Amino acid sequence: PNSQQQQLRQLYQDAAALFHHILLNTKLGETALAYTQQRQLSAELLATFDIGYAPNERDLLTRFFAEKKVDFNLLRHSGLFIENNDGTLRDRFFDRVMFPIKDAQGNVIAFSGRALTKREGQPKYLNSPETELFNKRDVLFNFDVAKAEIRKAKQVILFEGFMDVIAAYRAGITYGVASMGTSLTNEQLYLLQRTTDHLVVCYDGDLPGLKATDRVIELLHSDPRFQLSIVTLPEQLDPDEYVNKYGAERFQQIINGSMETAVGFRLRYLKQGRNLDNEQDKLTYIDAALHELVNVSSAVERDIYLNRLSESLQVTYEALATQLQDYLVDAT
Ligand code: GTP
Ligand code: MN
Ligand code: MN
Ligand code: MN
Ligand code: MN
Repeated sequence: PNSQQQQLRQLYQDAAALFHHILLNTKLGETALAYTQQRQLSAELLATFDIGYAPNERDLLTRFFAEKKVDFNLLRHSGLFIENNDGTLRDRFFDRVMFPIKDAQGNVIAFSGRALTKREGQPKYLNSPETELFNKRDVLFNFDVAKAEIRKAKQVILFEGFMDVIAAYRAGITYGVASMGTSLTNEQLYLLQRTTDHLVVCYDGDLPGLKATDRVIELLHSDPRFQLSIVTLPEQLDPDEYVNKYGAERFQQIINGSMETAVGFRLRYLKQGRNLDNEQDKLTYIDAALHELVNVSSAVERDIYLNRLSESLQVTYEALATQLQDYLVDAT
């Protein structure tokens, strides 16, 4: 690593330490500390994840690093500042709970800041812009700590948000990671493939979460590197909300006991927006479901799904099997 990169790492580490100090020990951080407590972030969790607070000022970091005589060009390239018209800098992050984003070695390379309250025209989460150290396609939140846990558990759980990773950790599931609010990338899969071959998706239980889950299934379609499992949370809850509502034990139960296969998920997902009491909808669904089974290479697995469909749809197993056989022949 060149020295500019080393200096940037030092800068981010200093900023993270300052934000953390402000959150825990200062008057400026009181409101934010109350917010984090309300979100069940104990002092221990705040320390584990180096969570901090950027107060509602535009020149806190600017002054902090000016006093330390940090090189102006380094500050300009750090992504922590916005350049004013007169060439001076102002803080990019203010009045946000700050989550340090770390690379696989645990170096801080960026931040994501969560707004304490909804504000018109302001994003809920604000991320650092991409820099020479931060390419969001390459990053999985918590991977630095989770990688050893992933190896032990022989699986990784993929969550949508930082708060979900932290809630799962609080509930004893320590092998969770999250991408940076974007779809899973091939770069992230490359990171993961060195630690495990079993990927568990536990996204939010709402419709965007289901859609994002389906995109992961698509991305991993017939990827020989990974076995894929899906956990769908009830009541459109996200993992953080689920842990808060039902507790750690039930969260562990649902994670460990309610995994389904990608095909199982797809057979349910394809029902979205269809009324199976309507004959046409039902036929369309059956057709789509059978096409799904064309890609299942194991005859035993196909049989299991056919039985499930036959029971739930009140169609004979034989009719479904005959139809599937036609599709299998078409596919060869
Ligand atoms: P909380 O509301 O704090 O519990 O966050 P969440 O993780 O439940 O948020 P949500 O389900 O809405 O979004 C999932 C993830 O998408 C977040 O953790 C962020 O990484 C990302 N995200 C959400 N909102 C924004 C946004 O406004 N801007 C950006 N860049 N990312 C966002
Ligand atoms: Mn395995
Ligand atoms: Mn969501
Ligand atoms: Mn969510
Ligand atoms: Mn949430």
